[in-house]
Amino acid sequence: MSHNHLILVSLLFVLFVNLPHSLALRHPDDKEVLLRIKRFLGNPPSLSSWDPNTDYCDGWKGVMCNFQGRVHFIAFHQAQDIHGPIPPFLDHLPYLDELSFLYLPNLSGPIPPYISKLTNLTRFSIHETKINGPIPKFLGQFTKLNYLSFTSNKLTGPVPNFLHPLKKLIHLFLTSNLLTGQISEALANVPNSVNFLDLSSNQLCGQIPNSIAPKLQNLHLLYLKSNHLSGSIPTSLGLLPKLQALDLSENYFKGSIPKSLGQTNIGYLFLSQNKLTGDASFLFEKNNTRIISVNIAYNLLKFDFTNVVFAETLGIMNISHNMIYGSLPEGFGQLQPRFVDVSYNQLCGPIPNGENFESANLEIFAYNKCLCGGPLPDCQ
Ligand SMILES: *[C@@H]1O[C@H](CO)[C@@H](O)[C@H](O)[C@H]1NC(C)=O
Ligand SMILES: *[C@@H]1O[C@H](CO)[C@@H](O)[C@H](O)[C@H]1NC(C)=O
Ligand SMILES: *[C@@H]1O[C@H](CO)[C@@H](O)[C@H](O)[C@H]1NC(C)=O
Ligand SMILES: *[C@@H]1O[C@H](CO)[C@@H](O)[C@H](O)[C@H]1NC(C)=O
Repeated sequence: MSHNHLILVSLLFVLFVNLPHSLALRHPDDKEVLLRIKRFLGNPPSLSSWDPNTDYCDGWKGVMCNFQGRVHFIAFHQAQDIHGPIPPFLDHLPYLDELSFLYLPNLSGPIPPYISKLTNLTRFSIHETKINGPIPKFLGQFTKLNYLSFTSNKLTGPVPNFLHPLKKLIHLFLTSNLLTGQISEALANVPNSVNFLDLSSNQLCGQIPNSIAPKLQNLHLLYLKSNHLSGSIPTSLGLLPKLQALDLSENYFKGSIPKSLGQTNIGYLFLSQNKLTGDASFLFEKNNTRIISVNIAYNLLKFDFTNVVFAETLGIMNISHNMIYGSLPEGFGQLQPRFVDVSYNQLCGPIPNGENFESANLEIFAYNKCLCGGPLPDCQ
């Protein structure tokens, strides 16, 4: 390599490797705030990458900066050595817009009042911690919030009624807490902008009001699994135009499944472990053109399965523990054995396309009246 080349290469090296670092903007205040937080937390080993001698925008666990070198994202995650309450000083990071506490089994106490100053947050998550107390009222002032997820904590009280000003809220996940109150009030309190709503695994009770439909028009996903909900499933759920996934499993719903649920965009329908009765055959029918996955297991459903013409989209079907009778319809033969369960019903007759099920776990057919052929004993 000639001398000139060497100079050129060195120059390029300086320009493209060193230059971005030497020009990069950093803010001593932000670094100092992070170090104060670390000290408050007792310098836990999980934050050892928060080293005062290194660049806080490059390699500090869970820290990300914007182009101005200001901290805009913090995620404390997967650490048992972060214990006690949510640390102070986060309000001294004026550019913070995403904050997460994830998988911190020893993080406890209520959400502290000073968090009310973080009004620039667009995403706020607290997952798998022991954070308790009610959901604080000041969240109603976080008008830039797009994503709010408080999942698997110990939060108490009702689904808040002060979230209406959050016109940009798209994701609201309050799953697996100790929330109480009537589902009708909970749903009335959800802003109309919400697309993804998960209130599963709480202690909500009462009936889903039929008035849900004109309101929560933007719902794509509605998960209310494992609460204490009762009454019948309202027809209006089938009138939510964008709904693609509905989970009402593990509640006390009774009565028949409204026909409207067979005329929607719903692809994923989970209704298991309720007290539903009557005919559910229309859920699998060809004219339910969007259906992909249905679970109606552990109900009191009673209908003839014989002549159901399956939707072409149907791929996953669990009808176990009901009183479904007749024989398995022709379309059953096209399903994958690992995605079906027809056990504990009153079904009889040959398994369509039996060779498709030769390697199936036979439990998917167990406790029926007289299913036969394919992997089961020959039909008489
Ligand atoms: C943190 O949690 C783990 C398990 O969840 C537990 O074994 C440990 O003792 C806890 N540590 C503190 C300091 O609370
Ligand atoms: C919100 O962000 C702006 C800059 O986008 C900043 O000037 C302001 O101080 C921030 N507010 C808070 C409460 O941090
Ligand atoms: C769907 O088709 C079945 C028969 O295949 C019929 O009984 C049912 O009424 C149809 N549903 C709608 C909504 O058209
Ligand atoms: C069918 O659903 C029930 C209830 O959700 C569940 O316990 C069972 O494991 C499911 N069957 C299969 C094969 O996944």
